[in-house]
Amino acid sequence: MEKTFLMLKPDAVQRRMIGKLVQRFEEKGFELIGAKLMRMTMAQAEAHYAEHTDKPFYGELLEFITSGPVFAMVWQGEGVVAMSRLMIGKTNPLEAAPGTIRGDFATDKGNNIIHGSDSPESAEREVANAFHPEELLIFDPFLPKLEALHVDE
Ligand code: GTP
Ligand code: MG
Repeated sequence: MEKTFLMLKPDAVQRRMIGKLVQRFEEKGFELIGAKLMRMTMAQAEAHYAEHTDKPFYGELLEFITSGPVFAMVWQGEGVVAMSRLMIGKTNPLEAAPGTIRGDFATDKGNNIIHGSDSPESAEREVANAFHPEELLIFDPFLPKLEALHVDE
């Protein structure tokens, strides 16, 4: 099943937006299979943003993402990578449509609330960078007893 790595950035946690943002993805119909409040180490931040090493804002990016707690999540569902990117909206606040997360809540290119993987391959790498395999669960919420199973790739 397709997975994505979504991360509520320090500005979202500071603005008390965790519940509201998680609700959007729950209501959309994706399945949450892992979540935790964490502080990214500098090594994790460097690995997460490795593709941006040469960008002028790279230093700023590392400083921001390690500046406070983030809420890291793994969501699962057919098409979850592309659909969650649509829900997040464009990086440039001038292009982020109202109704998207960035369109509704961000005015800044850097402090832009949330990260979402740009491909299933990026998602795999980003999930492995932030989670131990045993932190990811699948379960059927309709069973009387929740039976947690490790994700079967
Ligand atoms: P992510 O989901 O966070 O990866 O955003 P994205 O895929 O929409 O954008 P991209 O991967 O190109 O850039 C990664 C992050 O770098 C963005 O989310 C921004 O936080 C930051 N960023 C991108 N462009 C700029 C910029 O021009 N200035 C600053 N300060 N930050 C930027
Ligand atoms: Mg990106």
